[in-house]
Amino acid sequence: MIRFTVNGERLETDVAADTPLLWFLRDNLQLTGTKYGCGIALCGSCTVHVNGEPVRACVTPLSALEGKRVTTIEEIGKTPVGKKVQDAWLAEDVVQCGYCQSGQIMAAAALLTKTKSPSDKEIDEAMNGVICRCGTYNRIRAAIKVAAGPAFAPVKPAVKVKA
Ligand code: FES
Ligand code: FES
Repeated sequence: MIRFTVNGERLETDVAADTPLLWFLRDNLQLTGTKYGCGIALCGSCTVHVNGEPVRACVTPLSALEGKRVTTIEEIGKTPVGKKVQDAWLAEDVVQCGYCQSGQIMAAAALLTKTKSPSDKEIDEAMNGVICRCGTYNRIRAAIKVAAGPAFAPVKPAVKVKA
């Protein structure tokens, strides 16, 4: 029996200990917001938080989770940082096909929880493991800066008003 929490809910399971967390989330808990991409820790689309750290759910077995706290995309918007990130994602219209975006948001929320105003280099280092086939990287970076605070908000062009 393995005991851990998912999105604040305590659970215990006798599902095989070597089952990857991604399978357990999607098939046993129907938390399908976390996406299957490569299945071998290369694309980052399956990123969730375990005790606040971003991890790849496709290669994290249930046996590694005893006593730990898992947070998924379904819950991240209920944290202050996660809410800011999701709002910024909408404001910057980041999403294209959406395939990678759960992983992107989870990685961004983990970054901003640790580093309030990340530099471009820190953003790149934190985010470069999450691959976006649509190439939304520039909008992702802009959204992270918006989420980080007003100091990074983009300057909106002045609007001309007719007299
Ligand atoms: S599905 Fe986990 S890293 Fe690609
Ligand atoms: S938005 Fe399409 S893969 Fe990233």
